[in-house]
Amino acid sequence: MLKKFFNDREKRINNQFKDVKFQKISKAWTKYSLANGYLYNFSWLGIPIIKYPSDLITIQEIIFEVKPDLIIETGVAHGGSLAFYASIQKMYNKKAKTLGIEIDFRSHNKKNCRKIYKKLGISVIENSSVSEEALIKLKRFTKNKKKIMVILDSDHSTKHVFEELKIYSKIVSKGSYLICTDTIVDFMPKGFFLTDWQKKRASHRNFDRGNGPFIALKRFLKINKKFKIDKKFHSKSTITENPFGFLKKIK
Ligand SMILES: C[S@@+](CC[C@H](N)C(=O)[O-])C[C@H]1O[C@@H](n2cnc3c(N)ncnc32)[C@H](O)[C@@H]1O
Repeated sequence: MLKKFFNDREKRINNQFKDVKFQKISKAWTKYSLANGYLYNFSWLGIPIIKYPSDLITIQEIIFEVKPDLIIETGVAHGGSLAFYASIQKMYNKKAKTLGIEIDFRSHNKKNCRKIYKKLGISVIENSSVSEEALIKLKRFTKNKKKIMVILDSDHSTKHVFEELKIYSKIVSKGSYLICTDTIVDFMPKGFFLTDWQKKRASHRNFDRGNGPFIALKRFLKINKKFKIDKKFHSKSTITENPFGFLKKIK
């Protein structure tokens, strides 16, 4: 009975992904929502989170499937995404660890996260995700871990993401996932991310179409054959910040 349900679901997802009208409406909605700060509407356990709810459900499916004993996310911001991953991890493994790497973990965010992070065993390395210092500290967390999953969500410029992909691809375990977020940047019009709803902040941004994570991802996949794009995860939600961004380590 359930087998039929899952088979039907897979077929439906494939059809929806090929459905031009469905894709067009989804892209228009995504663009409008990005331009209006929709991504900032949600929290987890009282901590703001900057992701589409549909992407969170998808990531939850991956976490449940892989059951990583360590999840690393680069880019913490307010901290809600780490709390979300840790809550799921704790359902199957009380000892599972969740680690963030953030260049600018602000004091008000730190204060807001303190209790929950202590309860859920979440740690944050405060440094650039590609710095020597962060990578030395990271070793302490990866030691003896069997299943490691990584989510890249920090500086979205091509150069930085490419650097992260090279470094963190080595840490991800075979069978687990490397999620390269915000590939959507390269699917929006030129200038979109430099002039959006947060005009002041946008003017400081170093990423935009042509200088985003998807370009880095394509470059990375040409030189690294250990990963393949797992299409089912970006196609099932249609509303995603991460088109083609869910990479499975196959070798
Ligand atoms: C999109 S936000 C992260 C959102 C968060 N993962 C969530 O889902 O709620 C990006 C964060 O990356 C941080 N960041 C930018 N450059 C970085 C770097 N080189 N290393 C680590 N973090 C960085 C920024 O300070 C910002 O807080």
